[in-house]
Amino acid sequence: MNQTAPTSYLEHFAREVAHSLSLPGQKELPSKYFYDELGSALFEAITMLPEYGLTRASERLLQAHAEEMVAELHSPLVVELGCGTGKRTRSLLEALASRLPVTYCPIEISGAALARCELEIGQVRGVTVVGYEQPYLDGLRSVLHPQRPAQSRALVLFLGSSVGNFDRPAADEFLRQIRSLMRPGDALLLETDLLKPAEQLLAAYDDPIGLTAAFNLNILARLNRELGGDFNLSQFEHQARFNPQHQRIEMHLRSRIGQRVRIPAANLEIDFAAGETIWTENSHKYRLEDLDSMAARTGFSPQARWVDEQWPFAQNLWLVD
Ligand code: AVI
Repeated sequence: MNQTAPTSYLEHFAREVAHSLSLPGQKELPSKYFYDELGSALFEAITMLPEYGLTRASERLLQAHAEEMVAELHSPLVVELGCGTGKRTRSLLEALASRLPVTYCPIEISGAALARCELEIGQVRGVTVVGYEQPYLDGLRSVLHPQRPAQSRALVLFLGSSVGNFDRPAADEFLRQIRSLMRPGDALLLETDLLKPAEQLLAAYDDPIGLTAAFNLNILARLNRELGGDFNLSQFEHQARFNPQHQRIEMHLRSRIGQRVRIPAANLEIDFAAGETIWTENSHKYRLEDLDSMAARTGFSPQARWVDEQWPFAQNLWLVD
C-alpha cells in the first residue's frame, strides 16, 4: 500500500511561499497567510479605522434589515464561511432565533477566532453553535451533507466582502462550488463592497496611522517567525494601488533597496531589485449591475438586496431554486 505521510501545515505553507515568491516576473504571496493570530488582530483593528467603512456598513445593514431578511427565510440551519469574532452575525441570529430554534455552524480555519465566535454566539438564546475548524469548502461539505433532513433549509453566510479577495474567475468558481453543495430552498447571503472613488478606497487601504501597513508587513514577519526567514522589515514598505481596469485595490510590499532574503524552511534565496514588489492582496469592488450577472453565472437567483448609502456596500440574498 502506498502510504504517504500527510503534508504538515508548515510543509504546505513553505511550498506555497516558495512557489509564489519564485513566479517569473511579479513575485506574490497568497493573502490567506495574513491571518495568523497577530494578523487577525490587526485586521480586527482595521475594521475600526474611520477610513475603512466596509465593516461598519455590513454591521449597519445586518442590524437594520435583520427582521426583513429573516422574514424571507425559514432556515433553521445557518452556516457561516469565516466567522471572525461572531459579533457581526449576532443580530441576524437573534432575529432568526426569535422565530425558530437555530443551529449555527461557523466554519473557520483559525481555532482562536472560532473559539471566540463560539463564546459570543453561544450566549444567544435559541441558537446552538456547532463550529468547524476547517477550510470553507471542506466545512461546508461536512454541514450540507446529502443525508441532512429533506425539509431542512440552509442559509449560507459569506460576509465582509471576502469574496472580493478572490480574482474574479476564482470568485465565480468558488460560488459555483458553494452552489453545488446547496439544494433548492437553500439561500446564500453574500456581501460585496461596491466601487467608490479611488481616493476613498486608497485611504481605506493606506490609512494614516499605518495599521494596514502593519497588517501587510506582518506577512513577512510571519515568514520570519514560522519559516526562519530573514526579511528586514524596515527595508520593505506597504503600497496600496487602485487598478481601474480590474476595479480593485492591490496591496504590495515594495523593497526599498536591492537585497537578498533567505527562507530556509522553504529552501529559498530570493533577490529583490530596489523598487521591486511582492503582490500580497487584491480587493475587488463591484457595481450593482455586476452582481445579478454574477448570480446568474454561478447558479443562483437574486431574491433581495440591501445597500448601505453611507459606504456603498451591498448585501445580496440569493436563492437556489
Ligand atoms: C477581509 N477582506 C475583505 C479585507 C478587504 O477589505 O479586502 C482585507 C483587508 N485588506 C486590507 N484591509 C482589509
